[in-house]
Amino acid sequence: MNRDLLLTGIGELVTNASDAPGSLGVVHNAALAVRDGRVAWAGPAAGLPAAQRQLEAFDVQGRAVVPGFVDAHTHLVFAGDRAEEFARRLAGESYEAILATGGGIHSTVTATRAASFDELVAAVRERAMRLLRQGTMTVEVKSGYGLDVETEVRMLEAARVVGERTPIDVVPTYLGAHVVPRDIDRGDYLDLVTGEMLDACVPLARYCDVFCDRGAFTVDEARRVLLAGLEGGLRPRIHAEQLAHTGAARLAAEMGAASADHLDHATPEDAVALREAGVVAVLLPAASFSLGAPQAPARMLWDAGVTVALATDCNPGTSYVESMPFVVALACLEMGLTPEEALWAATRGGALALEEPDKGWLVEGAVADLVVLEAPSYRHLPYRPGSDLVWAVIKDGTVVAG
Ligand code: NIG
Ligand code: FE
Repeated sequence: MNRDLLLTGIGELVTNASDAPGSLGVVHNAALAVRDGRVAWAGPAAGLPAAQRQLEAFDVQGRAVVPGFVDAHTHLVFAGDRAEEFARRLAGESYEAILATGGGIHSTVTATRAASFDELVAAVRERAMRLLRQGTMTVEVKSGYGLDVETEVRMLEAARVVGERTPIDVVPTYLGAHVVPRDIDRGDYLDLVTGEMLDACVPLARYCDVFCDRGAFTVDEARRVLLAGLEGGLRPRIHAEQLAHTGAARLAAEMGAASADHLDHATPEDAVALREAGVVAVLLPAASFSLGAPQAPARMLWDAGVTVALATDCNPGTSYVESMPFVVALACLEMGLTPEEALWAATRGGALALEEPDKGWLVEGAVADLVVLEAPSYRHLPYRPGSDLVWAVIKDGTVVAG
């Protein structure tokens, strides 16, 4: 595979070449050289060093180039769908009532337990390829629809295999603590999640997540799960303050979690705690949009100095959304972020949330994951929601879609 390339004719290059959040480091009339899958040089075309001129050139004819999207929160492994539940929600039923009466997550658990390994891999591969075609090159993928040892392991194995069989990089997260399944006592389930299930999943995961919310797990239960995960070597991340304010964001700060995700009900005090602890806020505007719920206080979090990332939360219940460009549009139109903030959060912010410092920007030495837009400027991403604006996808310096 050729991992060397010279991109020329870049009308507008977003490099994110600064540690200041939201600072895009835009270069006009740019060129970008890739050697061995890494950025070897990026800057104004007029300044291209002679040593890079021999590389095979790819002229993008004035289009904009942005870093590859890093989707830092998904539930990509699942079987079945919940279109029927979606229609019931549109007719007025609440997400929480459906969950409490055995639907929602529980119905996806039933479908996922019934799916074979090959069926799961096929479904996830299709989904991952749709993400890739929309510019996502790194994706965090959670378990959490098995809720028994065998199926949680099968989900994480499926995620790993999809990472091997597609150009997309998969970051696996163990979410045994999604909800308590209907067929087991709560205490017994917590023992399982922090014992045998954790042991089986540790070799397959990088992170441990918990749905710490009304109707799921309490702060004390979540702490127990995350501490067990840490002991097994899994860094924590938390579904926090989505349906109600429970103190989960403060727990994320206390534990030094990689991220606190959702945060729809986060307070200014939570923001201070997250900032002080260096926890990334992963915001999921497509979930609140799809639930018809108020959006997370993105402006407040950003202005408080919290590092913000954006992700799809792709899952069959609250956000069957696979497109990071669409999430960027929602972040601007529904959350009040600027196009610069939203694009930064969907690229560099995601990379920081996944503790992948070489991704999400296009500086010398960074992984050469980038998207050529069918547009002259990144501003078209929020300006034209729902349009297919991805012209080419370049992963590790190789054109993989477009
Ligand atoms: O991130 N909040 C919990 N988990 C998912 C939804 C899962 C589902 O409804 O299937 C979320 O929104
Ligand atoms: Fe989620």
